[in-house]
Amino acid sequence: MIERPAPLPVTCAPRLTRTLVLVGLMGAGKTSVGKRLAQLLEVDFTDSDAEIERAAGMTVPEIFARLGEAAFRDGERRVISRLLAERPGVLATGGGAFVEPRTREEIAVHGTSVWLRADLALLWDRVRDRPGRPLLQAPDPRAVLSDLLDRRYPIYASADVVVDSQRGASHEAMARAIVQAVHAWDATQAGRQPTLEAR
Ligand code: S3P
Repeated sequence: MIERPAPLPVTCAPRLTRTLVLVGLMGAGKTSVGKRLAQLLEVDFTDSDAEIERAAGMTVPEIFARLGEAAFRDGERRVISRLLAERPGVLATGGGAFVEPRTREEIAVHGTSVWLRADLALLWDRVRDRPGRPLLQAPDPRAVLSDLLDRRYPIYASADVVVDSQRGASHEAMARAIVQAVHAWDATQAGRQPTLEAR
């Protein structure tokens, strides 16, 4: 028999004990769903790309163009490490962050990772008309995205929790699906403080 976790009380938001780190490819909905999730849990929302831009005083495309991807990855790791040391909240990461072994390790130690999984067609529909992603400034951006998917999905698969990003699902529905999935995962982690606790 499958053991189901006890339902979370619906009257108040559960208390978050570790930062929920949203990972996944560009277009998965990490930022939009993450904002709704943070509201639901009554915690702060942070976006690692926005934090890097603030720290560098440049946009992500400017950092890539002027300093290169390696410098961006280094800044990304340092920013995420700093954010993980702060009060538990919801952290949306850039699509490449979880691929970096050191960043992944920090997330594993200090946070609970949630992969927003989506298929190529959905991701492409969401990113195709939005400039500002340097990796997609290529002659065939769909092929780049497809290649990133092939290379990164086996790595994202090591996230603690996986939630499928459904076409047409509201941010609210996705946020609630994440809460339920994290709660279910908590129930399988004997001896570890649950990420979500009843207040
Ligand atoms: C990147 C994804 C972007 C941003 C940068 C690199 C990646 O973030 O960090 O352009 O390597 O996939 P989003 O996933 O939020 O678009």
